[in-house]
Amino acid sequence: VTTQELEGAIRDHYDQLNPFYRALWGEHIHHGLFRTPELSRADAQRALIEELVRFAKVPDGADVLDVGCGNGGSSLELAERHGCRCVGITISPVQAEAATEAAARLVGSGRATFRVLDANDLADLRDEAYDVIWCIECSEHIHDKAKLIREWARLLRPGGRVALCAWCEGEGLDEASRSALLDPVCRGMLLPGMLSARRYEEHLRAAGFDDVRSADLTEEVRPTWDLCAAILDRPEVKLLLRVATRRIREFAASFRAMQAAYGNGAMRYAMIAARKPRGR
Ligand SMILES: C[S@@+](CC[C@H](N)C(=O)[O-])C[C@H]1O[C@@H](n2cnc3c(N)ncnc32)[C@H](O)[C@@H]1O
Repeated sequence: VTTQELEGAIRDHYDQLNPFYRALWGEHIHHGLFRTPELSRADAQRALIEELVRFAKVPDGADVLDVGCGNGGSSLELAERHGCRCVGITISPVQAEAATEAAARLVGSGRATFRVLDANDLADLRDEAYDVIWCIECSEHIHDKAKLIREWARLLRPGGRVALCAWCEGEGLDEASRSALLDPVCRGMLLPGMLSARRYEEHLRAAGFDDVRSADLTEEVRPTWDLCAAILDRPEVKLLLRVATRRIREFAASFRAMQAAYGNGAMRYAMIAARKPRGR
């Protein structure tokens, strides 16, 4: 598949499956942080947001660019609880519309706005316009992650912060394990590829960032996929999958591939933070 074909497939995936995502995950389309096992899905997702705010030192009232904003879950939380002004971008027109409606209902106009924009090309956005680049589980979909990170360095004001959560490749995987364990995840979830947390850190340093840190949260986010796999065991879902398109069946199959890849260390979940130095 070419880059353009993959981008089209990603847009169609999020457009078409948006009712499904909203029904299962609400306004957030990301892992939950299960610090205690009895947390609900929604509370665990909110816990992940709050942990990223703390870890990446997101200041109250920041101007935030939310890259791959989904249905606006993060931007709405940041606007509501932390007084931030957020601009969310997504490749999915359906998500941009859903997020705009949710913002009108929840936080009032102007504090969180959303538009369709391809994160592979951020040239339209102004230099040094943001205090925070917030990116939860979108960079996996981007081909040239090093270029994306260089763009973040341009878009941030001096002293600005990167707050990133990403599905990562485990360290030191050989080619055979990568194709056996990660290819099914990449195919099902429409990812050109994953990086290890260390590679993300290297790209951030190469782009001039300092205070680069990462935390491995794999064990605390893994219960998310137990919940997802349980959905596939429902009899009505099994029946539906029998008549679903090949694309949707691949997507569903990747739930189990994710669970397995976390279990055997082929995949890790990382929270990554960095700061653009002042006086550059
Ligand atoms: C797993 S969802 C995460 C959504 C959101 N960050 C959240 O946590 O709820 C991935 C998001 O990345 C977006 N995305 C994927 N490729 C993109 C691209 N090239 N440009 C902009 N957004 C993209 C999708 O539209 C979707 O909103």
